[in-house]
Amino acid sequence: MKPVLAVTRRLPDAVAKRAADSYDIRTQEDDDPLTRAEILALCHGADAALVSVGDPIDAEFFDHLSDSVKIIATFSVGTDHIDLAAARKKGVIIGNTPGVLTDATADIAWLLILGAARRASEGEAEVRNATWSSWRPTHLMGTQVTGKKLGIVGMGRIGQAVAKRARGFDMDIHYYNRRQLPADQEMGATYHDSIEGLLPHCDFLSLHCPSTPETRGMVNADFIAKLPDGAIIVNTARGDVVNDQDLIAALKSGKLTAAGLDVFAGEPNIEPAYRDLANTFLLPHLGSATVETRNAMGFRALDNIDAFVAGKDVPFTVTT
Ligand code: DGY
Repeated sequence: MKPVLAVTRRLPDAVAKRAADSYDIRTQEDDDPLTRAEILALCHGADAALVSVGDPIDAEFFDHLSDSVKIIATFSVGTDHIDLAAARKKGVIIGNTPGVLTDATADIAWLLILGAARRASEGEAEVRNATWSSWRPTHLMGTQVTGKKLGIVGMGRIGQAVAKRARGFDMDIHYYNRRQLPADQEMGATYHDSIEGLLPHCDFLSLHCPSTPETRGMVNADFIAKLPDGAIIVNTARGDVVNDQDLIAALKSGKLTAAGLDVFAGEPNIEPAYRDLANTFLLPHLGSATVETRNAMGFRALDNIDAFVAGKDVPFTVTT
């Protein structure tokens, strides 16, 4: 008999096939977000669970989780949807997918940088809505990216991949990270040992920090005030790192030229004012959404479960 694997969302074909080869899959008919109670029901009597970003794997979940489930693999590198302390208390191992979504996410950060700077939403809307009247010297003038200053908060794998792409745009790269990188990884970027020190050097600011009690709401009015006037913020990290009301106020006042956002607090129910602003470039959390990357993430999640089921060390575990 195969072990039972509870899967909360539809998997990419190649991942679903591999999962079905090794496990008795228990999942939903559709591909809807499941409630805590629905996920608990799927997990009842299962040996393992494969969950996704946005699933409520919180303390209450662990209070009611079937004792049969000893490992939960998340189809994500981020684990902010999981109460890690509650998992540890319950003796459940949590596996994630680091390392395989670096390039896809850095590419999306760059799509946001360029889309926000070059007014891509407004331009695309004109073409689609047939409201493009003519070429004219003042039409949808944006902000030049080449040669500007880029600030990166969080110089892990993704931050470094964003910096690598920025070198192709001749940008002056600045970063804040808990630790300074060795010179060969910095590749000419300037280190700041505080976020306050970094902010005045950012024509563009790209966020690459996890959502933690320290970073939640970090991008607030005080933070934004320290940026140069007209700066552009992009976020591919987590939505709750930003104070939405303060960001919206800065976009309305012109303190910030634009924002490019792939992640939102409470997504998919985003703060509606973002939709009404012309100077936002918005994507529905697509950072890792390439076939190659989603397959790699799914395989990594299955590697974690396979190792646990085989009594081996889980390759990518998250600890509190
Ligand atoms: C993750 O893996 O945490 C990403 O946000 C998914 O794109």
